[in-house]
Amino acid sequence: MSETTKSRATWSGKLAFVLSAAASAVGLGSMWRFPYLAAKYGGGTFLLMYFVFVFTIGLALLLLETSLGRKTGQSSIGAFKAFGKKYAFIGIFMSAVPFIIVPYYCVIGGWVTKYLFGYIVTAPEALADGGNYFSGFITSGAESIIFMLIFMALTYFIVALGVNKGIEKANLIMMPALIVMAAAVAIYALTLPGAMDGLAYYLIPDFSKFSPELIISALGQTFFTLSLAMGIMVTYGSYLQKSTKLTSSVSQIAGTTFGVSLLAGLMIVPATFAALGSGDAVAQNSGPSLMFIILPQVFENLGGAATIIGVVFFVLVLFAALTSSLSLVETCTSIISDGAGWSRKRSLIVTIVYVTLMGVLVNLGYSSLSFIQPMGEGSSILDLLDFISNSVMMPIAALLTCVFVGWIIKPQTLIDEVRVSARFRLANVWSVVIKYIAPVMLVVILIAYVAQTMG
Ligand code: PFF
Repeated sequence: MSETTKSRATWSGKLAFVLSAAASAVGLGSMWRFPYLAAKYGGGTFLLMYFVFVFTIGLALLLLETSLGRKTGQSSIGAFKAFGKKYAFIGIFMSAVPFIIVPYYCVIGGWVTKYLFGYIVTAPEALADGGNYFSGFITSGAESIIFMLIFMALTYFIVALGVNKGIEKANLIMMPALIVMAAAVAIYALTLPGAMDGLAYYLIPDFSKFSPELIISALGQTFFTLSLAMGIMVTYGSYLQKSTKLTSSVSQIAGTTFGVSLLAGLMIVPATFAALGSGDAVAQNSGPSLMFIILPQVFENLGGAATIIGVVFFVLVLFAALTSSLSLVETCTSIISDGAGWSRKRSLIVTIVYVTLMGVLVNLGYSSLSFIQPMGEGSSILDLLDFISNSVMMPIAALLTCVFVGWIIKPQTLIDEVRVSARFRLANVWSVVIKYIAPVMLVVILIAYVAQTMG
């Protein structure tokens, strides 16, 4: 971003915007969260729903949030307030979401850091021991906290450097590297014995597997990966120049995010299937630990190359995680600074203290606080935070946003904004999605899900 006006920074151009938004989008959500959800919820069935949501509600909301930000020149709370004080609550509600995500994001970031470190100092067999290495680590308490703190320190270091110049450039190299690397590992994983059945499990939907829980997870995953329904894209939009074409930008962001998720799933789901032998076994054994247990086993089979592949791979995942945690920390900092009227520095310190305390709590959820199982047998504090943000708050935030734009300020307001810089041939379709399709889908999904949970 460069300072072009006194009051507000802007992206240096379309590429900078697309890259930064894609960097915020492509992160642990695609690399870590997507594969385990796909494995858990019937492979191809989940993939299909994710695909449908990314290219319908996801794209529509991406356009909505960025154009709302650009039109008002404000981040989320201000953007809603610009149309009347009484609408500020939508922005406030959304703004709570990054505060719930950021602590557990840093915990997983710590896991990635630990694995990178592990590949550097330990023999790769040690990491591929069927989960003992992983469970020993997360239940250790102190060690997992230390790695979370290292991850947080890296994030703050980059934030403190002043984000953009370096990151924009680094993204240009790291994002393609991540994709090439993921594709190479995926191809290798597909050559493992049994992987073809796994590929079928991953790609071919089994319609008997649909459930309200699967659908809400795919929806939450769409919001999580595209960094939607939490105000971030409104803020990113507010930094946009009027000349940047919104329609093609958002298509590129959604396409990249979907592509990386697809690849991450290809690396992990067929290999898991090959290791466990059936879809049901895959589903039962899938959870947040999947990437840390299965992938090291895949790498180990590479023999002499395991260490180098492990190091390169976790460097890239770490980078993807850092560029996203950066955007989360920045967002929390600017929300505090706008809301409380504090300086950036003071707001950053408050964010750091908050993330550290909450992050320690999430870590202890696997050790001294593991008796807290808020979502049933074997669940953790991390699962609870993930559930509240992804399956409850984001769908509600998305619903409020659609109703706000569809029925209160009217889609035409934002269509005009999009048309400042680009043709928008699908404006009518978009209107219908925002006014009718998305809200109806969201309400139906939320009701079906609540009914299932209560019943
Ligand atoms: N989209 C990121 C991911 O999928 O990992 C998560 C995320 C990053 C959410 C930044 C929100 C955000 F501001």
